[in-house]
Amino acid sequence: MKSIKKTLVIGLGLIGGSLALALRKAGLGGSIIGCDRDQSEVELAIKIGMIDHGSTRAEDWIAEADLIVVSVPVIAMESVMMQLKPLLRNDTIVTDVGSSKGSVQTSAVKVWGGLPANFILGHPIAGSEKSGVSAALVDLYQKHKVILTPTQDNNRQAVSIVTQMWRSTGADVLTMDIARHDEVLAATSHLPHMLAFSLVDTLASQDESLEIFRYAAGGFRDFTRIAASDPVMWRDIYIANKPAVLQALTEFEQGLSRLRTAIEESDSDAMLGIFTRAKAAREHFSRILENSAYIPMQNKLINYRTSPGNALSGRIRVPGDKSISHRSIMLGSLAEGVTQVKGFLEGEDSLATLQAFRDMGVVIEGPHQGEVTIHGVGLNGLKKPAGALYLGNSGTSMRLLSGLLAGQAFDVELTGDASLTKRPMERVAKPLREMGAVVETAEGGRPPLMIRGGQALKGIDYKMPMASAQVKSCVLLAGLYAEGETKTTEPAPTRDHTERMLTGFGYEVNREGATASLQGGGKLVAGNIDVPSDISSAAFFMVAGSIADRSEILIEHVGMNPTRVGIVNILRAMGADITLENESEVGGEPVADVRVRSADLKGIDIPQDQVPLAIDEFPVLFVAAACAEGVTRLRGAEELRVKESDRIQVMADGLQALGIQCTVYDDGIDIVGINAVQGGKMTGGRVHSHDDHRIAMSFAVASLCSEGEIFIEDCANVATSFPGFVELANKIGMKINVEEA
Ligand code: S3P
Repeated sequence: MKSIKKTLVIGLGLIGGSLALALRKAGLGGSIIGCDRDQSEVELAIKIGMIDHGSTRAEDWIAEADLIVVSVPVIAMESVMMQLKPLLRNDTIVTDVGSSKGSVQTSAVKVWGGLPANFILGHPIAGSEKSGVSAALVDLYQKHKVILTPTQDNNRQAVSIVTQMWRSTGADVLTMDIARHDEVLAATSHLPHMLAFSLVDTLASQDESLEIFRYAAGGFRDFTRIAASDPVMWRDIYIANKPAVLQALTEFEQGLSRLRTAIEESDSDAMLGIFTRAKAAREHFSRILENSAYIPMQNKLINYRTSPGNALSGRIRVPGDKSISHRSIMLGSLAEGVTQVKGFLEGEDSLATLQAFRDMGVVIEGPHQGEVTIHGVGLNGLKKPAGALYLGNSGTSMRLLSGLLAGQAFDVELTGDASLTKRPMERVAKPLREMGAVVETAEGGRPPLMIRGGQALKGIDYKMPMASAQVKSCVLLAGLYAEGETKTTEPAPTRDHTERMLTGFGYEVNREGATASLQGGGKLVAGNIDVPSDISSAAFFMVAGSIADRSEILIEHVGMNPTRVGIVNILRAMGADITLENESEVGGEPVADVRVRSADLKGIDIPQDQVPLAIDEFPVLFVAAACAEGVTRLRGAEELRVKESDRIQVMADGLQALGIQCTVYDDGIDIVGINAVQGGKMTGGRVHSHDDHRIAMSFAVASLCSEGEIFIEDCANVATSFPGFVELANKIGMKINVEEA
């Protein structure tokens, strides 16, 4: 902001005063002049060094200011604009802080006939119930949001200077259009203030001595803190933002009356529905505030700095199986009765599925330490969600959901993050269309997906062109809603959790060789689910324990479904020392404890029939191959190119950066091992996860056979499938440091 030599702040309240303090601290804005109607506030501001000069007469300073911040109540905005009009230079930039933007625009239209090009409307989302110069805080805006509502006619440079000004105070600046701003603020700020004012007023007038407040505990205090805010300012806000506020109030009244009815009718499910949805939404909001949630995760950059670890030892349990966790929510929701789930994976992917069903009206309690209670609504009990279902990074959620949503009565849109938006969805859209569904994709068969409800589906006999459990599951789930028989035939065995869980819920599935079929129109009966630990997460430690010197670890209660054990078969073929103990079956899925000891691994040609059985484990198998003696060859694995990243290319790039020789093919890779047992080492270096959780974790494992540090960029995504990975890895002797970028 080189060109700004003088900044004039009109109105030295909490907002204007705090901005003056923050600009002085940042050394921006040149000399700061402050004006306020109240002489004593100006004097105090000069005395405490908040401003350089000031007075009660803004008109004396307007012509010399390069930047003017109008920080007066919205109701006074028009009269300040009248003062500005005759004195304002053409090149002076003006911004305001009003909490409704439509009314400020209207005032500008009255005064100037339109919003001047250099007048950028803004609104810092910060404040407290206190006001005046003495309440101002230098860090009021740190990590707070400031919304700017630039119009098409605004000067871009002026927008950029106002943006820089707010950034210098530590704020996050975002932009929105004016009407949207007013709606959002009406709902999230003006409505809660109104409720707090009204509740306190109502209670106080019932008990004139105010005695009642002596008994009020934390809940009342938390809920009503904002009722101590400035009455005049709030009156002005309700006058300025009347239409949006009344609309928000109408929606709130409807919600409250639904709750009232639920209480009147002692409708326990309806109450639990409202409360669990609200609790989940409130927790999501807390995570946003802590900057640790789902949506901010995309903005948050986490890197791993890993160094060669010690010998590994210990007994660990990895989180619940991702595939089974997704299906437990889906089938539990569609079942009749209450399903209790234990061992649910509290990773971002399965939480996305859980949230989607909550959004469709299913009451789901938890998760709490892996326990989830689902109040099933039956096959036809889902409700149209209020907006699109956001599925984050999760391909499984999108593909399986598209099948069961194809049979609903309502339209629904499925969206996801940047990585999911690149993944192919035509593979599910095509068979669904053959069944009579209406599925619209974005260009190239990518998300978002729009699924039109109210279609009559008919069963098909689908010969799958690729070995994909997601496609098979999608078609079978649509088959629940289809007339007649739905049949899938797969080119190679893929995970069969959907078939097993449907059977467990009392739905008949016929399975003959590669074919699975079911009849539409049946029903699912709730049952309890014990989710075993995820073999795909255990895989990282199977490889870690094999390649680290003098190591022995035990991984408890791992799912050993025969369609998932490719990792064990392949590692054993490479010479790994893996034994299964305590083999048993829980809820229709085999489980075992897996003991892994260090071993001399040898390169092999990976048998093609093992590829679908180890499809998610190849990134870490490539690390095993890189440490082995000799060459490992993989073919027939083109599916790896359409996972969360192109796992063939991304792994090859990373391994090469660590000094490993490899040759990439369309459907596979050759990797020349360094023979770690004879002292061969990777070089260490810098690799990128490409937004893929399994790539990040695989390179963390690679550090066990590396000479130097491996710096892995972009690891926040590990939370999609393996929350707690770093803690667990470090507990058994690995050395991973998490660094926030
Ligand atoms: C999954 C199936 C596999 C797998 C994914 C989970 C499932 O995908 O890679 O992580 O839960 O059905 P494909 O069906 O695309 O092979």
